[in-house]
Amino acid sequence: MTVTIVGSQLGDEGKGALVDRWGGDADVVVRYQGGDNAGHTVVEGGEEYKLSLVPSGAVRGKVGVLGNGCVVNPRTLFDEIDGLREKGLDPDVRVARRAHVIMPYHRVLDGIEEEVKAEDESGTEVGTTGRGIGPTYEDKVGRRGVRIGDLADRETLRERLEYVVPQKRALVEDVHGLEIDGTDREDAFDVDALLEEFAEFGERLADGGMTVNCSDFLHHRMQAGDRIMFEGAQGTSIDIDHGNYPFVTSSNPTAGGAAVGSGVGPTVVGQGEVVGIVKAYLSRVGSGPMPTELDGDEQEEALADFIREKGGEFGTVTGRPRRIGWLDLPMLRHASRVSGFTGVAVNHVDVLAGLDELKVAHAYELDGEVIETVPATAEEWARCEPIYREFDTWDEVDWTAVAEAGYDALPEATQTYLAYIAEEVDADVYAVGVGPDREDTVEVVNPYKKQ
Ligand code: IMP
Repeated sequence: MTVTIVGSQLGDEGKGALVDRWGGDADVVVRYQGGDNAGHTVVEGGEEYKLSLVPSGAVRGKVGVLGNGCVVNPRTLFDEIDGLREKGLDPDVRVARRAHVIMPYHRVLDGIEEEVKAEDESGTEVGTTGRGIGPTYEDKVGRRGVRIGDLADRETLRERLEYVVPQKRALVEDVHGLEIDGTDREDAFDVDALLEEFAEFGERLADGGMTVNCSDFLHHRMQAGDRIMFEGAQGTSIDIDHGNYPFVTSSNPTAGGAAVGSGVGPTVVGQGEVVGIVKAYLSRVGSGPMPTELDGDEQEEALADFIREKGGEFGTVTGRPRRIGWLDLPMLRHASRVSGFTGVAVNHVDVLAGLDELKVAHAYELDGEVIETVPATAEEWARCEPIYREFDTWDEVDWTAVAEAGYDALPEATQTYLAYIAEEVDADVYAVGVGPDREDTVEVVNPYKKQ
């Protein structure tokens, strides 16, 4: 039995709270895409852990797997593992041998490419997290990447680096016209230094028995009766295929990615539950269109500031303030279709309490036509005018008491809002987030106990 958790919007929907809650009923928690561009905070036994790569389940004694679809920065991985060990934990983390390695030159290139785009008039700066995600996936697809399995074999690693590093050097020096030698970029392009550092990571991974043939590993765990959770990072609208390209990340956060990025068949993922995580409004870190953004006038900006502060809408990885907007149904319908949601969890409904008005984009008007799902290009998306529906607002209540009492204790207006979302995305509400803590969740269905 598998449960796949998918971001329905632009990332930061509060997936961690549900991964945390339902992950307790799983034996193995698998990340299937992305890398240390994700960020989640896990609170366990009064301690707070900020993680970007280690699956949160590993903090709770589950097996945490980084699947073949991930890009792994071993520096971040071991920093996080060491940090957890210092706090007395012994996380069991396995890394797919087929996963690609984020090398220091990928991070340097991520920064340079963003700077170049920022200076260009085309306005295509993505606002990446700067973690080297895009350049690493580029090398994977270009068949010049370094994989986790390569770190175990010094000769192979040397061959890979000797092939690729001169190309990266030429890119920086000849294409971008920037210096490497004598600058702080130097070490990232030094084959010998990279070989020493990354072969050592390879030894550490091997000594700890941390690398796995992911498909095989998960197959055997499932045969033994283990329950799997697939933990999606980022969100549907920044999916490389289904998001608003080019303002996207370079992987597939949507549910199909769970199969491809782990080696578990799509029929197995599809027999399980696929839960879309929805934030009750929209937030976005990074650039790109956002038709419902609250930035039209001073009043809207004040409302965005209020929601941003109340909802703590600042990037976990970068600390950047997030852009804020009303809930966008065309985006959610698209997300539900692409991933085949069996249920949704709607978070942050407490943040919307006490507002004077509450709107939702039910559809868009695009060049005189009404459309109910998102268009395929960012340019069209930028031209979309939201067609709003207004909803009754709800007051501030004792949310902790509501979480304890259950769904019927939610304010009536909140229930109307939730029922509307469920109907439009054709999936039941499994949970409602009413506060930042794990306990502040109204659970309607636990997907592991449904079947
Ligand atoms: P990258 O994944 O660092 O290449 O960034 C590409 C785009 O995805 C940028 O707009 C980032 O802000 C966004 N992004 C990447 N990871 C996350 C995330 O975990 N939450 C929200 N946005 C993200």
